[in-house]
Amino acid sequence: MLKTTLLKATEAGAKVLQEYFNGTFTISHKSTVNDLVTEADKKAEAAIIDVIRGDYPDHFILSEEAGSLETASTIKWIIDPIDGTVNFAHGIPLCCVSIGVEQDGEMILGAVYNPIMNELFFAQKGFGATLNDKKISVSSKPHLANACLVTGFPYKFENSDTNPLATLQSFVQQGLPVRRLGSAAIDLCWVACGRFDGFWEHHLNPWDSAAGYLIVQEAGGKVTDFKGNAYSPYQPHILATNGHIHEGMLEAINNIQ
Ligand code: IPD
Ligand code: CA
Ligand code: CA
Ligand code: CA
Repeated sequence: MLKTTLLKATEAGAKVLQEYFNGTFTISHKSTVNDLVTEADKKAEAAIIDVIRGDYPDHFILSEEAGSLETASTIKWIIDPIDGTVNFAHGIPLCCVSIGVEQDGEMILGAVYNPIMNELFFAQKGFGATLNDKKISVSSKPHLANACLVTGFPYKFENSDTNPLATLQSFVQQGLPVRRLGSAAIDLCWVACGRFDGFWEHHLNPWDSAAGYLIVQEAGGKVTDFKGNAYSPYQPHILATNGHIHEGMLEAINNIQ
């Protein structure tokens, strides 16, 4: 069963995060000196892929560090072995394993597990979303004026078709509280359970948002791109809200571009 494998794989990855968190591990960088990848990212990824391959040897896998392990399967596992690697490397307990399962182009399962805080978010299409097995739902806050928002920033600002700082400025200038946790998957899950009312981020990758998208959606929220189009993991600009403040956030984002 896909759900069992998903939970087993998430647990296997999370075990690696727990073993390495606050310990010693090698760290290297990718696109910039602060775009990090640690020994734990690679070990967690290997443990996750091992579980999936053990149960489903022919499924398509798309994972941040391993890349695209393409097959003809209609089922694709979209994996972020550690979302929040910079936090992880600095001993900040906001990091997680994030795994989404896509079937025929539709997200059907998602799990985001922060083992340091022992928070497992899970969703199955059509069956709602949970945090540690308890049903969750988005906030009921009706107005953007009292919303608490969260965002994130890309490692590199060059070649940007949109301006993440201008968007941030527009919300901050309205006097809105805006937080930056450093893990897009956790940001999305914290919208799903009502801690935040809205999240936006420019330039995300499929593995940052795939699982979190379904968790927000199944918790009663709304996820689109910055034009209000339906969510796709393959488009980089993500807006996720409790639904009520979606139009207001879309307007604010588009008015400054
Ligand atoms: C990053 C985190 C961060 C977001 C970056 C992502 P990583 O993922 O989700 O919150 O702002 O855009 O790349 O590199 O920690 O997996
Ligand atoms: Ca990364
Ligand atoms: Ca990520
Ligand atoms: Ca990552």
